[in-house]
Amino acid sequence: MNTKYTVPRGTSDILPKDAYKWEYMESLFRKVAKSFGYQEICTPIFEQTEVFERSAGDTTDIVQKEMYRFQDKKGRTFALRPEGTAPVIRSYIENNLGSDGQITKLFYIGNMFRYDRPQAGRSRQFSQYGCECIGTVHPYYDAENIAVFWTYLKTLGLKNFVVEINSIGCPNCSETYNTVLKEYFQKSLEILCPDCQSRYEKNPKRLLDCKVPQCKEIAMKSPSMLDFLDERCQIHFGEVQRYLKILKVNYIVNSRIVRGLDYYTQTAFEFINNNLGSQNALGGGGRYDGLVQQMGGKDTPAVGFAGGFSRLLLSLEQENLYQGEFARPKYYIISFNEETTSKAIEILDFLRNKGIYAEFEIEKTSMKSQMKSADRLKAEYTIILGEDELSQNMLSLKNMTTGEQKQIALDKIEELCL
Ligand code: HAM
Repeated sequence: MNTKYTVPRGTSDILPKDAYKWEYMESLFRKVAKSFGYQEICTPIFEQTEVFERSAGDTTDIVQKEMYRFQDKKGRTFALRPEGTAPVIRSYIENNLGSDGQITKLFYIGNMFRYDRPQAGRSRQFSQYGCECIGTVHPYYDAENIAVFWTYLKTLGLKNFVVEINSIGCPNCSETYNTVLKEYFQKSLEILCPDCQSRYEKNPKRLLDCKVPQCKEIAMKSPSMLDFLDERCQIHFGEVQRYLKILKVNYIVNSRIVRGLDYYTQTAFEFINNNLGSQNALGGGGRYDGLVQQMGGKDTPAVGFAGGFSRLLLSLEQENLYQGEFARPKYYIISFNEETTSKAIEILDFLRNKGIYAEFEIEKTSMKSQMKSADRLKAEYTIILGEDELSQNMLSLKNMTTGEQKQIALDKIEELCL
């Protein structure tokens, strides 16, 4: 039988021709996050299922439909992480990271898993970058958290995106708002999708997040959350905007943002690239003041965001931006026979131990084929080790851009590292 193996649906390989772009996006994110005082945290890719069920909310699509659950050999239930916030909070509590009473700022990069219908910008395994700021209610930190994301995208050179912000209030505001929403949706209850009918009972705010066109249309005309904020939440939202202005983050207010996870309170935001089609959110986040306590920790406020790298890459490609570069050898060593090959390997090893990318292909012995390889790999220089050169204890160095050639004595080989 001739079996042809393929990647699982909704996943993809990152091939060497693209890997450098990912390295570039990741390293720049690390740099920007660190400049805002965030420190890296890595959590496992699977957790006890409850970590997500208790945090994301049991009426959300993520928990109801999209989680990869499995049992281990002892019958314990785990889930591949669909998002990074709940694991970070689990770790924050478990490792007592807030014990010094200071603000804890954590960032992460990692693969997440959601069983959803794959399409451009939406896959079943995807890589997220995110920042969580834990231990403060101060609205400055909502703005600062948004500014990390903003600065990252600006540093990448991205232009086509907008920052949309909203406040979804606190449990106090939600009480009134949920009643108003239920009154509004009651008239259309019969034509809502079955999911929305159950959301109506269990969690009316989720009605605003349905993707079924008919429900979406009804939700578009629903009362705005912003009209039902209590005084504390109104002040908070005003302050967030004041700090965003000081930080020079351009934003618009969009009262329709609800977010697909239940742990949010007050500030909610999304970074949108309208050229991306239906999966147009580069990322999103918000404040989640109740989550640490809900997951068994002390009452600790927090705010955070996450973005997806694949949508970011699509955006960078659309705008023709990535400054990373496919690695090219500094030196390609050309050798012709057994004797010169031993010297070639010595020089190769010397250069690589100095951290210099040098290449040599032992099976190629003609000048023509090795020069061809050096061109194909875009080597900066070739080192030519002919018998004549070796007999004089020299090597020839050719600059592949200018064609200039010079000789270097083998006992001055350090010059190659300059
Ligand atoms: P989220 O909105 O579910 O939030 O995901 C954040 C971003 O991850 C999305 O905007 C999108 O760019 C990317 N993403 C999500 N699902 C997929 C997918 N199936 N394929 C490709 N990319 C995807 C969260 O995950 C929250 N944990 C954000 C957060 C952090 N809130 C507070 N702190």
